[in-house]
Amino acid sequence: MSALAPTTSGLRFASVTKEFPVRGGGTLTALSELDLDVGAGELLTVVGPSGCGKSTLLDMVAGLSTPTSGTIEVHGREIRGPGLDRGIVFQQYALLPWRTAQANVELGLEAKGVPRRRRGAIAREHLDLVGLTGFESRYPHELSGGMKQRVAIARSLAYDPEVLLMDEPFAALDAQTRESLQDELLRIWRATDKTIVFITHGIDEAVYLGQRVVVLTPRPGRIRAVVDADLPAPDGVTDLRSTPEFVALRHRVWEALHAADPADQVPDPAPAGPAAPTRTLEVAHV
Ligand SMILES: Nc1ncnc2c1ncn2[C@@H]1O[C@H](COP(=O)(O)OP(=O)(O)OP(=O)(O)O)[C@@H](O)[C@H]1O
Ligand SMILES: [Mg+2]
Repeated sequence: MSALAPTTSGLRFASVTKEFPVRGGGTLTALSELDLDVGAGELLTVVGPSGCGKSTLLDMVAGLSTPTSGTIEVHGREIRGPGLDRGIVFQQYALLPWRTAQANVELGLEAKGVPRRRRGAIAREHLDLVGLTGFESRYPHELSGGMKQRVAIARSLAYDPEVLLMDEPFAALDAQTRESLQDELLRIWRATDKTIVFITHGIDEAVYLGQRVVVLTPRPGRIRAVVDADLPAPDGVTDLRSTPEFVALRHRVWEALHAADPADQVPDPAPAGPAAPTRTLEVAHV
């Protein structure tokens, strides 16, 4: 494990395996025997080929599905279902179209029973945190993709979860918006000290954001490498992505992703399983 291995645990995966039943019989192993500690307040990124189990991993942390074997703990408590101690941001914004930005952000606060006036104040504060002051009464269809994703981030942070789970949240955005949201996320993370697990296809994104980068093997996902990637905070001037440190880290992650390991190549279960995953590495360079 890495030199930066955390001391206080935010999330702990112990021998986590996830299997899905396959139509026509058999099982598909999405993740196999995963052991990982994410430190409290750590920003951890996860990269891996398409279909290797990244979303499956996040869904289990979110409590939307359960491991077939093994356990996952948040701050020492075993996960038994969804909870307001974990916030999720998906690739698609998942905003309620009939609610304004402000009302979308208030959603989790309503679930938590926060009184109306306090809800309003907290929602405005978080819209401000993501740079959306003045857009409180806009509906999702009146916002750009980047703005919608900012609302989704504000909504996840507003009810103050201990852990923020992000599943390729910037993948649908153009490169410029993506880069500015990456900087926003780093700023917010430093300001709020949340434990963040950020899933991405992009090596650059993983290295730019993560204190550590977890590289998964093709399905069944196992940890192939954990790369320390604690780069200096962006200062708005330096092009961090072109520094020798960044380029070297990027290369290490690339090598880990592309390492050939015949043991990782597991045939698809026959006959007709769920949508067959591709085993080609689809690594988008953001
Ligand atoms: N509910 C399900 N039922 C059956 N199989 C599933 C289910 N969810 C995921 N899988 C399978 O588990 C494997 C991992 O899927 P998952 O969505 O976690 O991959 P991923 O790493 O997030 O891929 P991508 O990068 O394309 O988003 C895939 O083979 C997928 O077909
Ligand atoms: Mg996925």
